[in-house]
Amino acid sequence: MASKIPFSPLDYDKPSEQELLKRSRSFLELMKKRRTVREFSDEPVPEEVIRHCIETAGTAPSGAHMQPWHFVVVRDPQIKKQIRHAAEKEERINYEMRYSDDMKKDIEKLETNFEKPFLEHAPVLIAVFKESYRIENNIRRKNYYVNESVGIATGLLITALHYAGLVCLPHTPSPMRFLNEILKRPGNESPTVILPVGFPADDTRVPDLNRKPMSQILSEF
Ligand SMILES: Cc1cc2nc3c(=O)[nH]c(=O)nc-3n(C[C@H](O)[C@H](O)[C@H](O)COP(=O)(O)O)c2cc1C
Repeated sequence: MASKIPFSPLDYDKPSEQELLKRSRSFLELMKKRRTVREFSDEPVPEEVIRHCIETAGTAPSGAHMQPWHFVVVRDPQIKKQIRHAAEKEERINYEMRYSDDMKKDIEKLETNFEKPFLEHAPVLIAVFKESYRIENNIRRKNYYVNESVGIATGLLITALHYAGLVCLPHTPSPMRFLNEILKRPGNESPTVILPVGFPADDTRVPDLNRKPMSQILSEF
């Protein structure tokens, strides 16, 4: 038997066409300025701001509303150091052995290497975990569209951080299982990304990347 819940009227205010245009245009201009940053100042970030952004991520839609995500915020310098050490161990192998020549060529423009000082310099790290399955009454239950759902939540998180005025880096030092151990997360969760978050260091530079034009990313019928 399906479990039922009550329904309520939708809380929605329809904007005028002018307002729609204004809001969509100004949000676009804001989002065009989002950049991945790899150099952080050590200036602290208010805890409440990070909580607001994570609560925003938690508003994401998810398959069957399973909300298959968990966020871990790290500020402790000792834990950041452990994460940096473990990430650099994997990244050294990635750069020396696991990455294909094609991949190395594709990331060359970013001028990255196995060293990840931002994992210690950024005042906050947010590790995003996906709940591949859940346990209910000792029974393993499936979650649905987990990658899609957690990807959307992470997108909202990055957007909320940017909107608040912070910068971040989606970092994937794969394999990332070491994060389960360091951050004491259970076996049904897998790390998907770790986001160093904060303010950019003075004189931070970013690569001059081009974004695909609308003609390439949009088809209309
Ligand atoms: C899923 C994902 C994984 C990424 N992993 C890394 C990473 O491990 N290291 C890194 O330096 N950048 C990483 N990036 C950042 C991308 O390199 C960056 O988003 C891209 O170059 C475009 O730059 P922009 O974010 O400034 O527009 C990742 C981005 C995404 C979405």
